[in-house]
Amino acid sequence: MERILITGGAGYIGSHVAKELLKRGDVKLTIVDNLSTGFLETIERLERFYGPVEFVKLDLSDWEGVERFFRQREFDGIIHFAAALVVPESVENPLKYYLNNTANTAHLVKTAIETGVGKFIFSSTAAVYGEPESIPPGGISEEAPTAPINPYGHSKLMSEQILSDAARAHPNFRYIALRYFNVAGADVGGKIGQSTRNATHLIKVAAQTALGKRERMYIFGDDYPTPDGTCIRDYIHVDDLALAHLEALNHLEREPNGVFNVGYGRGYSVKEVVETMKRVSGRDFPISIAPRRPGDPAILIADSSKLRQKTSWTPQYDDLELICRTALEWEEELSE
Ligand SMILES: NC(=O)c1ccc[n+]([C@@H]2O[C@H](COP(=O)([O-])OP(=O)(O)OC[C@H]3O[C@@H](n4cnc5c(N)ncnc54)[C@H](O)[C@@H]3O)[C@@H](O)[C@H]2O)c1
Repeated sequence: MERILITGGAGYIGSHVAKELLKRGDVKLTIVDNLSTGFLETIERLERFYGPVEFVKLDLSDWEGVERFFRQREFDGIIHFAAALVVPESVENPLKYYLNNTANTAHLVKTAIETGVGKFIFSSTAAVYGEPESIPPGGISEEAPTAPINPYGHSKLMSEQILSDAARAHPNFRYIALRYFNVAGADVGGKIGQSTRNATHLIKVAAQTALGKRERMYIFGDDYPTPDGTCIRDYIHVDDLALAHLEALNHLEREPNGVFNVGYGRGYSVKEVVETMKRVSGRDFPISIAPRRPGDPAILIADSSKLRQKTSWTPQYDDLELICRTALEWEEELSE
């Protein structure tokens, strides 16, 4: 049995990775989370529907507590999701991001190395690329320049640097940073989903509007240099993203260290997403056009060929209707 620790596993993406690991069945799973944006109910659902989890409420900023926790257990691998991730908040309160995302990651990596953890998977983000001037037809590759435009993106890129330097100095410690593009949808099994409060993620917002939880939704800018004037993004189903983590863990058995984009390599415009949600839900809902938001590039599409070539990752849910439907079904499940 592989002993895996997930940090931030009470949150959206971490819980879907936990689910996939539990389904695989050969893992002893521990989750730590401070429940700042995650939910105890998510852990309960994981246990009820997918299998046993050891849950420890722990804040990664409690460094002594983290060290005590590691002294009592042994792990083969860590998948590190715990972070703060609201871009405008990171502009207003950058130190929260540098402390929670960067300093706590540095400490976690140090503790992992000191206690002999060999594998580390890190949740990074397309935000490390900032506002690329142009996107090649095949999408943005890992070799593209990194140039974050907000503290959130910087906090993640700095964590990647920490991992790279630490792994070079400690060859028994191997890491992969996965740069996620736009994550959306919910467990195809319908048991867990995205419960994030005040979410700004387009597909979740569209699902909420379709269900009347919001009166209307806003499209931020319709004058971008794209066919319909709205931004284009690479939406990846959260279960496919979760499977990429399992592949990354396997990959570390063969080859150390690396950075991988995770997306499908094609994009949909905001208007296309809204139309798809209307079709899937069978409901029309009001849309308003609002001004562009600062820092929104016109197009962000992943070139994920490196992940496809180096691992056996084969997306199973590359289907915008399915992404919208699972998001909608989960939104119906949530009471508020
Ligand atoms: N959601 C996306 O579209 C997206 C895109 C790119 C990257 N990411 C990255 O993926 C990861 C997970 O994102 P998510 O969407 O699941 O967010 P989330 O907010 O649902 O999950 C984060 C979890 O971490 C926990 N947490 C935060 N700080 C903690 C701390 N100090 N100690 C212990 N637990 C803590 C929260 O309670 C929460 O359960 C993050 O690292 C994020 O930067 C997300």
